[in-house]
Amino acid sequence: MLVEKKYRVRIFDRLYFGETPVAHLASDPNVQLIKGDIRRLEDFPHLLDDVDAIVHLAGLANDPSCDLDPEMSFDVNITATRRLAITAKQRGIERFIFSSSCSVYGRGEVDLITEDSDKKPVSVYAVTKLIAERELCELADEKFTPVMLRNATLFGPSPRMRFDLAVNQIVARALKRRKILVFEGGRQWRPFVHVEDAARACIVCLEAPAEKVRGEIFNVTNEENNFQIVELARLAQKHFPEAVMETVPGDEDKRSYRVSSAKIEKTLGFKATYSVEDGIRQVRQLLDDGAITDPEADVYYNIRLISKIRQMPAIAGGESSSARFLPFVSPSIGEEEESEVLDTLRSGWITTGPKVERFERRFAEYIGAENAVAVSSCTAALHLSLVAAGVGPGDEVITSPLTWASTANVVIHQGATPVFVDVDRDTLNIDPELIERAITPKTKAIMPVHIAGLPCAMDVMRTIAEKHGLCVIEDAAHALGAEYRRKKIGTISEFTCFSFYPIKNITTIEGGMITLADAEVADKLRTLSNFGMSKDAWKRYSQDEGSFRTAEVIYPGYKYNMTDVQASLGLHQIEKLPAFLSAREKYAKIYDRAFAELDEVTVPSVPAYVKHARHLYIIILDVDKLKLSRDEFIDAMKAENIGTGVHFVSLHLHQYYRERYGYRPQDFPNADYLSRRVVSLPLYPKMTEKNVHDVIVAVKKIIAYARK
Ligand SMILES: Cc1ncc(COP(=O)(O)O)c(C=O)c1O
Repeated sequence: MLVEKKYRVRIFDRLYFGETPVAHLASDPNVQLIKGDIRRLEDFPHLLDDVDAIVHLAGLANDPSCDLDPEMSFDVNITATRRLAITAKQRGIERFIFSSSCSVYGRGEVDLITEDSDKKPVSVYAVTKLIAERELCELADEKFTPVMLRNATLFGPSPRMRFDLAVNQIVARALKRRKILVFEGGRQWRPFVHVEDAARACIVCLEAPAEKVRGEIFNVTNEENNFQIVELARLAQKHFPEAVMETVPGDEDKRSYRVSSAKIEKTLGFKATYSVEDGIRQVRQLLDDGAITDPEADVYYNIRLISKIRQMPAIAGGESSSARFLPFVSPSIGEEEESEVLDTLRSGWITTGPKVERFERRFAEYIGAENAVAVSSCTAALHLSLVAAGVGPGDEVITSPLTWASTANVVIHQGATPVFVDVDRDTLNIDPELIERAITPKTKAIMPVHIAGLPCAMDVMRTIAEKHGLCVIEDAAHALGAEYRRKKIGTISEFTCFSFYPIKNITTIEGGMITLADAEVADKLRTLSNFGMSKDAWKRYSQDEGSFRTAEVIYPGYKYNMTDVQASLGLHQIEKLPAFLSAREKYAKIYDRAFAELDEVTVPSVPAYVKHARHLYIIILDVDKLKLSRDEFIDAMKAENIGTGVHFVSLHLHQYYRERYGYRPQDFPNADYLSRRVVSLPLYPKMTEKNVHDVIVAVKKIIAYARK
C-alpha cells in the first residue's frame, strides 16, 4: 500500500517466512529489502539513513508463539522496540507507528472496551506489547511522535498468508475438512479487522498531523466486527452449509474482549471498511482458485514455524539458542576486589609486598599446605619448581601431551626433555599404567596435569615416584579446589602449581602459586622468583627490615614475582572460592544430566573418591557418528551465540614438538583421538541457569541435526 502511494520503502525483515511474501516488490525501484534481525540493529548502522518514518511491525506475533519462549519474546518485542525507538529519536525520525494488539485487554470485563479500559493481559505476547507501548509513550515529545495501533485479530488474504487467525482458519477448515470448530462454548468475544484496513490505519497515522496522534493509542477495528466465536461460526456456516459445527471443550486461549473503534473514527476519521463476511468470501476465493493448496502447511502458522525455527540449529537457518553471545568464560570480579586494588594503588606500594604475603598465608591455609609461594603465573610456578627440584640438562620429565604448552615448555627451558605418556580416554589424564614404562635412568620428575580439574591417580603417582626416587610437580592450573581421596590438591606432592589466569577458578589477572611442605625450599622459590636476591624489594626498602647493603644475588634468579595489585584480587577471590566451586558443580551436574541422553557426547568419568574442581566442562564428541567435524561443531556453536574452547590439541601434534622430537600422531593414540574430539563448554559462576540451558539446547539441536 505504501508502495502504491509512491512512498520509498525500506523493508527490514528477518524473513522467517521466506522471501515469497515480498517477492512481488523486489523489482520496484522504490523498495529496498534488507534481511536482518531487529535485535541486532548494531549490525546495520545505515538502516535508518534518510528515513522519515518507521512502521514498526517487527516482532514475535500472536499469543501462543510468545509463550514458547518468553525471554526471546521480551527481547524482540520490548528491548528491540526500545532500542529502535531511541535510535530513531536520536536520529531525528519523527514518526514511529507501532503495531500493538487488542490482546492487551486479555480477559476484558467491560461491555465495550476503549483504549483507557483496564488491561488484563493473559499472555506473554500481550504483556510485551503493553510494556512496549508504555515505553514508547514515554518517549513522545515535540520531535518524536510514537503512535500505538492496537490491532484487532486480522483476517483476509495477504502476501504473507496466515491460517492461524480465526476467520481465515474457519474458512480453510470448513472448506477442506467440512468442519467448523467452536472452542469452549464460543462465548468469548473477539474483534476483527481486515489486513488491508490495518495497513490503511498505519498510513492514516503516518500522514495525520502530529498533534492528533503523538503518544496516542488507537484500537484498530470496526465495532460491527466484534463477534462471539459462536456467532462467527454461525456466520461462517451461512457460507459453508455443508460444514458441520462441532463444539470442542476447553480452550487454552483465555482472551475475551469486545472493542470500541470510536477513538480512531472520531480523531482521524478512519473507518475499517471490510466486514468479516467480505473476508470469508475473499479467503474462500483464494482457496477455490487454488492459489493456496494446503492451508494447513506450517508456513501459515506462526507457532509451528517459530517452534521449527527454535529447533533448527542456527547454521541451518534456525534461531540462535542464545539471544546474545555467551562468552566461553568471564571472570567474577566484584566490588571487594575493586576497592582492594584501589587501596593498593593508593598505598604507595604496588608491587610485591604485604598483600602478597597475606595472600600466600591465606592460600596455604585454604589448601592446608605448609607453604605457598605466589608468582607471576602458573608457567613461572612450574618452571621454578623444576629449578628447585634440580632438573637440568640431560634430565627427563614425564608428563601428559594433552596439556597447555607451559607444562612441557618449561622442561625444555631447563635443558631437560619432556617425555610424553599417553592419556586415558576416559579421564583425559595421564594414563598411570603407562608411566613406569617411560622411566629411564635420566628421569627426574613426573608432572601430572589434572585436566579440567579432575585429579590424576595420585596414589599410583606417589608409589611410582617413591619407588624410583622421583619428584612430583603437579600442574594444578585447573585444579584449585579439587580433592583426591579427601586430600586437597596442593598437599600431596613435592610441588603443586596453580594458575590464576582470568579463566581459572580464581583470578589475579595473571598469577600463580606453588604449594609445598618444605619451608626452606619455599624460601628458595621466593628468592628465585625475585632475581635470586637474598631479600626482596619490599624488605630492602622498608625501614624496619634492614639495609640495602645486606641484599645479595644468591642464585641467577628470575623475575617471576606477583604484585600486591594482583594479590589484592587474590585475597578476595580465595574467600569466594567455595561459592564459585559450588556454582560450577551445580552447572556441571545440569550438563551431565542433559548430555547423558546423547549417544554422540561423552564426558570424562569422575571416580567417587575425588572432588572435581570443575574448572572446565569438556565434552568428547563422537565425530564418527556425526556429519560434522569438531571444528564445524564449534562453528555451529558460535552461530548459536555460544563461545567454546578446545582443551587441548595434544602437544605432540604441534609444530615445535613434531619437528624437534619427530612425533607422529599415532605415537600417542588417545591424545591424538581426543585432540580432534574435545570441546569445552562455558562453565563459570557468572553464568545463569538460563545460559546453561541455552548451551544444552544448542548442543542438542546441533547433534540432532548432524546425527548420521
Ligand atoms: C594445564 C595448564 N598448565 C599451565 C597453564 C599455565 O598457566 P598460566 O597462564 O598461569 O601460566 C595453563 C594455562 O591455561 C594450563 O591450562
